[in-house]
Amino acid sequence: MTTDIDAAREVLAANDRGGYTVPTARLYPFQWNWDSAFVAMGWASFDAARAWREIERLLEGQWEDGRIPHIIFHAPADTYFPGPDVWGTHHAPPTSGIVQPPVLATAVRAVFAADPDRARAEGRTAAIVPALLRNHAWWHAARDPLVTGLVAILHPWESGMDNSPAWDAPLARVPTTTTTAIVRRDTGHVDPQMRPRAEDYQRFIHLVDAYRAAGWDAGRMYAAAPFRVADVATNAILLRAERDLLSLAERFAPAQSRAIDERIVRMERALGGLWNEARGLFLSRDLVAGAALDVATSAGFLPVWAGVGDGAHLAATLARWLTHARFAVPSTDPAEPSFEPLRYWRGPVWAVVNWMLAEGFAAAGEVASAQRIRNDTQALIGGAGFAEYFDPLTGAGAGGNRFSWTAAIALLLSGTSRPHRGGA
Ligand code: DGY
Repeated sequence: MTTDIDAAREVLAANDRGGYTVPTARLYPFQWNWDSAFVAMGWASFDAARAWREIERLLEGQWEDGRIPHIIFHAPADTYFPGPDVWGTHHAPPTSGIVQPPVLATAVRAVFAADPDRARAEGRTAAIVPALLRNHAWWHAARDPLVTGLVAILHPWESGMDNSPAWDAPLARVPTTTTTAIVRRDTGHVDPQMRPRAEDYQRFIHLVDAYRAAGWDAGRMYAAAPFRVADVATNAILLRAERDLLSLAERFAPAQSRAIDERIVRMERALGGLWNEARGLFLSRDLVAGAALDVATSAGFLPVWAGVGDGAHLAATLARWLTHARFAVPSTDPAEPSFEPLRYWRGPVWAVVNWMLAEGFAAAGEVASAQRIRNDTQALIGGAGFAEYFDPLTGAGAGGNRFSWTAAIALLLSGTSRPHRGGA
């Protein structure tokens, strides 16, 4: 065992708040949905029992309608805005009312495979699969009511890539007026140059106000949404999660396999339709304007993680990007005018995206691209520690530090995970 592995495990242990892991102290003091899915896979590399707890604590926040909100406020903290009072969802435990990329089924499959205690793995997975089925059914019913094969996000926070330049055009339509007073806490913890701008927050909170006024009802939210986007990343992650859920369902809920399979076929076709030949990349779609969002971001590679797209073509696009950046994979093409190397999702490298892309490129047979991404991720973490994100030009760490999902990815990349034995 190397000290790096010990250090990554220590980050997870330090961010453990009793069965759930905060992304980092102070900046993000609650349980976040997609963070926890990656973190569960990290825990599973050395403590599968703790990985199951992470998932179960996340599911404490699941709503009756099947949605799994993006934040579960298990315990009060005054270092984050917007807190439970702003969301006003009346759920116990308190939660937000929007969602986040659905990595969870992928994580459950990975933890199931990694757990050396097979009886425990069988029992925990059997108990969790119904919640995953309800969650995926919610995604399709609530976010693809016209059965197009693409789900919509209704808030940039739902993409997890909050201030991606791909959201600039659709977000510009959202008013900056809010009924909630904005009291940002993030800029007290992190350099404001590395965070979304004040105007972005006004629009983010306008949307929260609008959906709270819609009573967080899925149908009313969809109808009221001034921001409605088929995000290529969310759709790729959901499609990949559907494949993982199908694998679990074949063992734990065989009667559901056919419905999942049908969704997979529909999503494969629709996601393929987001391909843009000129960019050599997939592009998100603005469902309000009915137009592609023509900005090259790392989200556009993610269909490879879902088994969609021409891996060689995507690898060539990545190689082109990397003529302008030292480290893979910048969250925005460095040649884009909107590229900012240190501002959150407008340029920095994120370890979780890198991990998904490396896995996807490897599965597509693009071994050199996969290895480049893995090597760069390890070099970034080795040089700057478990930062929230990294400058693709210099390799400097940015945002918060001692970040749980960066530590989790370090563990996954170190290859210390227990061997797959579960077979699902
Ligand atoms: C934030 O507060 O920065 C989060 O990304 C929203 O989930």
